[in-house]
Amino acid sequence: MTGATVGSPAARRLHLPIMNFLILGVESSCDETGVALVRQGKGAALPALLAHALHSQIAMHQAYGGVVPELASRDHIRRVLPLARAVLAEAALPLKAVDLVAFTRGPGLAGALLVGAGVACALAAALKVPVLGIHHLEGHLLSPFLSADPPEFPFVALLVSGGHTQLMRVDGVGAYALLGETIDDAAGEAFDKSAKLMGLPYPGGPVLAKLAEQGDPAAFKLPRPLLHSGDLDFSFAGLKTAVLTQARKLGDALQERKADLAASTQAAIVEVLVKKSLKALAQTGLERLVVAGGVGANRQLRALLDAACADRGVRVHYPELQLCTDNGAMIAMAAAMRVQAGVAQPVHQYEFDVRPRWSLHETLHERAA
Ligand code: KG4
Ligand code: ZN
Repeated sequence: MTGATVGSPAARRLHLPIMNFLILGVESSCDETGVALVRQGKGAALPALLAHALHSQIAMHQAYGGVVPELASRDHIRRVLPLARAVLAEAALPLKAVDLVAFTRGPGLAGALLVGAGVACALAAALKVPVLGIHHLEGHLLSPFLSADPPEFPFVALLVSGGHTQLMRVDGVGAYALLGETIDDAAGEAFDKSAKLMGLPYPGGPVLAKLAEQGDPAAFKLPRPLLHSGDLDFSFAGLKTAVLTQARKLGDALQERKADLAASTQAAIVEVLVKKSLKALAQTGLERLVVAGGVGANRQLRALLDAACADRGVRVHYPELQLCTDNGAMIAMAAAMRVQAGVAQPVHQYEFDVRPRWSLHETLHERAA
């Protein structure tokens, strides 16, 4: 990518210490359309969320038992501009006040990503302001900085979404070292697939978690994959098979034992996430843990992590509950923090591409190059 066009007002602003930038963020990587406005902080102050709006496609995909990519793209097209108008109205700001447009460049569904990227680049071109493509996971990772209790660097991050399960050491914006990750299914996927096997509706994770509240977590012995592997990697594919075997064994009795099976499944996933997070903290010697991504909304995970970390004098930070799953605020926030930290250069280049498969660590090397 090239640098900002020399001579344009926004480019001139980019060469000054950037302060007070108004950033419009667009998220459209999967089944949620999110748009938000974030105002960059002055000096070392954290950026502030002015407004955010979200449209979830859950009701639309529910009839199909999962996300239908083509329907997702079409729905993003319908929602994104009305959501942008809604956040501008909420913040009482005109579109022309926007200084930078950020969008999710990947990973995610290609068609869905193209909608957000296309709209973001078209808006930026019309406004003659720069654009910045953001890695979806970096959005999740930095989303706790929007909470009332923001973390400080350095920290260990447990990133648990529908597609990713990673432990990272985070020393600053753009300074992420991978400590461990899943070798097969992600934690969210384990929740979703187990839920499906039990006949629960999409989206499986939160439905399974709700049902688990009425069940006995010790009712069924399910495997804790790689719990004692000695490293910080995860594996959840075997758990899903064990849930399937158990469901088949129960046969007609599954209906009345569903809450117990849900609670046992959740207990297995959560125990592995908690134990590996503690191991990462011990290994790095860090005393702060940040949990981000959709599974971070899980109450049981939060309760057990809070208890275990309190015992060890470790502080745990989460995004606000409503910002755990996908949203535009985290994309605008990541853009604000990247620009403020000087690790990203927004560009006046509106030929966009998207990266449906994109590892966060790959982006760091790309950006360093
Ligand atoms: O971060 P996210 O919204 O999207 C991705 O980037 O993947 O995460 C979605 C995942 C799904 O697998 C969903 O089932 C899971 O997060 N999830 C939960 C809960 N809320 C969302 N899993 C367990 N308990 C929850 N309360
Ligand atoms: Zn996500």
